[in-house]
Amino acid sequence: MPATRAAEFGLFSRQILRHPRQVSALAPSSPGLAAMMARQLPVTATRVAEFGAGLGSLTRAILAAGIAPHDLTLFEVNDTFCASLRAAFPGVAIVNGPAQGLAATEAGSLDAVVSGLPLLSMPADTQRDILAAAFHALAPDGVYIQFTYGLFAPLRAAVARDLGLTATRTARVWKNIPPATVYVYRRARNGTA
Ligand SMILES: C[S@@+](CC[C@H](N)C(=O)[O-])C[C@H]1O[C@@H](n2cnc3c(N)ncnc32)[C@H](O)[C@@H]1O
Repeated sequence: MPATRAAEFGLFSRQILRHPRQVSALAPSSPGLAAMMARQLPVTATRVAEFGAGLGSLTRAILAAGIAPHDLTLFEVNDTFCASLRAAFPGVAIVNGPAQGLAATEAGSLDAVVSGLPLLSMPADTQRDILAAAFHALAPDGVYIQFTYGLFAPLRAAVARDLGLTATRTARVWKNIPPATVYVYRRARNGTA
């Protein structure tokens, strides 16, 4: 394992011990999972937000996919992770606050939201607030890209139905701790979100 990745594991592990519910992961996402997330970005995507950026595993893949730093905004509640993100990603906007803050963004101004949030372990009302904020900011054909360690969709069916969203899923990414699946949520044709 490269030294920088080993250092990331150490920093990430300390935050898991301090904030287990907030971080809700055993390790940062692998390069393979990050690449699978980035592959779901529409080819025309320019403006992107990332939720729960952690130490930037997904951020690196988003930038490698061609999104310009000044078109990317990260939302991360953990102060320690935010300090690390600021050092690692100059030019990227970093909000040290909850994903729900995206609701203050101009309506329809984003092409994609990439989420590393522990959505599965969140209450239905929190899921609803987060997805409503995301789809407020997303353009009509914008996408919300989310991974889950679970075997089923990370968003409760009732929340997806209420917000008028449909989901597609990718193959499971086995080279990740633990293995994960990527879901892409979009407005249904007659959606209400
Ligand atoms: C499973 S980790 C993912 C970290 C990183 N994206 C990755 O894939 O390795 C979840 C991250 O979401 C952050 N988080 C949890 N709740 C949040 C919220 N409401 N808004 C923004 N970030 C949140 C945690 O601090 C943590 O960094």
